Amino acid sequence: MSETSTSLISTYLDIALLAARAGGTVLSSYWGKQLAIAQKGRSGDLVTEVDKKSEQEIITVIKRHCPDHGILAEESGINGSQNHQYQWIIDPLDGTTNYAHGYPQAAVSIGLTINGVPSVGVVYNPMKDELWSAAKGLGATLNNQKIRVSTTDHLEDTLLVTGFAYDRRETPDNNYAEFCYLTHLTQGVRRAGSASLDLCELAGGRLDGYWERGLKPWDLLAGVVILKEAGGKITAYDGTEFDIDSGRILATNGIIHLALMEALKNTPHSPAFSFHN
Ligand code: IPD
Ligand code: CA
Ligand code: CA
Repeated sequence: MSETSTSLISTYLDIALLAARAGGTVLSSYWGKQLAIAQKGRSGDLVTEVDKKSEQEIITVIKRHCPDHGILAEESGINGSQNHQYQWIIDPLDGTTNYAHGYPQAAVSIGLTINGVPSVGVVYNPMKDELWSAAKGLGATLNNQKIRVSTTDHLEDTLLVTGFAYDRRETPDNNYAEFCYLTHLTQGVRRAGSASLDLCELAGGRLDGYWERGLKPWDLLAGVVILKEAGGKITAYDGTEFDIDSGRILATNGIIHLALMEALKNTPHSPAFSFHN
């Protein structure tokens, strides 16, 4: 990467950090208070006034600094110009269910692609004062300290994380069987409720692997940049190239990637796990 592009990318990282702080201030100021909560499409898919306010603040910061850039945000969709060179993708509150229950695993997640390449990622959990960030070629940090993935090298020694999409009651492909099987094979599988933080905690070595389906680009982009810069590996479930629009991700410290991939492929699907409607 040339000098110019490195300095450009770090300028965008600074803007993402400003925007994440602005969204994070909204999350902190409503924390513990009574919230106006509405249901989106499916049962359990919530949206609060905090999601919307946080998104407004984030977009205001990005527009102030980058008026020509494209923006895709979870609650308001495509915002402003359709710029395919610079595309910001925003989840103003990732972990809404946790946040609405007062469980402090939730974050603002802001990513930027440049010419389609995931280039900047910031994930900020103000409840725990944890600010995760990365830019392509510049490494990944947690509160300004460099982070690196774990070195766990056997599946049976791993601590994993996964999640369940809001359509879990409607599909047999709901991840219940995989969750049980991997719980059996490892030291544990967590369901922490914020995809962006799952990726960051994997990047920081607290977890060794992560898989999930039914995700959106705003759940993933920032965490993908952070995990890659921390030395992690990201693919599709079958080991082929990761596609952020597929909604599926297999992410690990790199060392246990093949073992987790095999375990997912070999998961027994018994009728006991088919709780879908
Ligand atoms: C959700 C979280 C959760 C994941 C869901 C996402 P939201 O995002 O990231 O961990 O399992 O699939 O939709 O709704 O809290 O922004
Ligand atoms: Ca989300
Ligand atoms: Ca969200």
